[in-house]
Amino acid sequence: MIWWVSLTLSVASMAAICWRRHRRRRDREYEILAASWIPSLETRPIGLTFDPDLVSAGRTEFESRRLVRVENFVTAETLAILQKEATDNFPRLERSYVPVQKKGETLSYESIQRHAPFCLGIYHSREVRDFVERIVGEPILPTPLQDQSSLSLLCYRSAGDHINWHFDHNFYGGRHFTVLLCLWNRGPEGGRSKCRFEYVGVGGKVETVEMPENSLVVFEGARIRHRATPLGPNELRVILSMTYSTDPRTKWPREALRRIKDTAFFGVRALWD
Ligand SMILES: [Fe+2]
Repeated sequence: MIWWVSLTLSVASMAAICWRRHRRRRDREYEILAASWIPSLETRPIGLTFDPDLVSAGRTEFESRRLVRVENFVTAETLAILQKEATDNFPRLERSYVPVQKKGETLSYESIQRHAPFCLGIYHSREVRDFVERIVGEPILPTPLQDQSSLSLLCYRSAGDHINWHFDHNFYGGRHFTVLLCLWNRGPEGGRSKCRFEYVGVGGKVETVEMPENSLVVFEGARIRHRATPLGPNELRVILSMTYSTDPRTKWPREALRRIKDTAFFGVRALWD
């Protein structure tokens, strides 16, 4: 009996040591990666075209329904660059399928840091953050580098790709906001795809949010139940998903839960990567 307890403790200790070493190595890699792109953020020209007069109206709207949509958020040139970055990265997408709940492809934050500099620039743009802060009424910060969903491309390219009703669970110390910029939304003969963003509004009524290309949606996903309905055949829908928090610090139990949630997007590697 004693030998069995001692063996279990030894294996657990070894696993803990290996985990800590692995985490230190990965965190160091994220820091080195960030150091390679942070200096270039300021020099990257990102054109925003949203109407500043809409901000105060957006703030009021957000207060009442915790969701705001803005059209024509970036310039045509910036949208074209973002669209190209998205399609150039299609070979790097990770496909996931959770029966009933979701089906689709995702480009992780780490891949975006390495291969999609303009998507990265939008997320870290001071102007974009200012805009979101004025909508939500609080200072916000990007969520951590280690969170592969902090910034991701959500790509639906096959018929039936979707995500069912869910909340964007909050694993951080402060309020958590999701910002979606629609890069592609195409049907087989022009027009938009059949995929619709829906959420449960005040009084439990299901509302539909039209998301043409270049529209931006800001919402508090931890409080709003939402979904994206299935894509039709020969359609394309690509969303740049950005998350911010008023306090992005976390503790290990929440971090563990966040990693379990992320297996739905990035497979089991999300548990340790
Ligand atoms: Fe969501």
